[in-house]
Amino acid sequence: MPELNLVLFGPPGSGKGTQGERLQEDLRLPYYATGDILRAAVREETELGGTAKRYMDRGDLVPDEVIVSVIAERIDSPEAADGFILDGFPRTEPQAEALADRLTELGRSLTAVLLIDVDDDEVVRRLGGRRTCEENGHVFHVEFNPPEKEGVCDLDGSPLVVRDDDEPEVIRHRLEQYHAKTEPLVDFYDRRSLLRRIDGAASPGEVGAELERTLATLRLEADEAI
Ligand code: AP5
Repeated sequence: MPELNLVLFGPPGSGKGTQGERLQEDLRLPYYATGDILRAAVREETELGGTAKRYMDRGDLVPDEVIVSVIAERIDSPEAADGFILDGFPRTEPQAEALADRLTELGRSLTAVLLIDVDDDEVVRRLGGRRTCEENGHVFHVEFNPPEKEGVCDLDGSPLVVRDDDEPEVIRHRLEQYHAKTEPLVDFYDRRSLLRRIDGAASPGEVGAELERTLATLRLEADEAI
């Protein structure tokens, strides 16, 4: 089967992490979520974490050169040789160009960019009610996907917390950053015929089913091209 090099794309809170967790299990591909990588670096107090924290707490993007090297290292690794799923990268045009250049150097290319499309009001509802497991990063929602026991992760019993950047004024700033710097990539990838739009307003199960249908179509197209 041809390799699958996928990007999960969309505004903050659109459900990229929720769907990424499912896709990773279904496709058995390495999953690189830049937000998770940076939060782990902050927890471990590495140099990367120290740099990233200043930007993340404000809801700003970390500088391109910082995040590009983080992803290049993963794509170059043997575990990603048969494909990968990126979540949260690229987020600016220079990042998208850097990704394309690196893949070209490796004789590879992106298979598709999967845009999970939701509007700003829905983003605010979702991020306002998100609760994240302190230990494993699994996400819940107080209304749409509540844990069995309030404040406790179903998977390992760890406490659920509100992410620092899920405070209302930071959510608004993250949305502004998305519209200004990241949303232009919708056109960038559409022009390259890589964009696939998924209606993200539906339930997590329905969004997952639409993603599966899209991936099935991509596989058929790839098989026909051989
Ligand atoms: P990151 O962690 O990537 O944040 P994000 O893109 O804002 O995405 P989120 O994790 O907030 O949301 P999500 O789309 O994964 O939604 P989720 O599944 O959790 O990045 C954080 C920061 O790191 C950035 O602000 C930046 O500073 C930095 N950074 C990262 N990458 C960078 C880059 N490339 N360049 C520069 N800086 C970078 O779902 C949200 C909630 O909704 C949950 O509660 C969930 O249960 C619920 N939910 C999910 N799906 C549904 C549904 N269908 N219906 C109802 N509820 C749903």
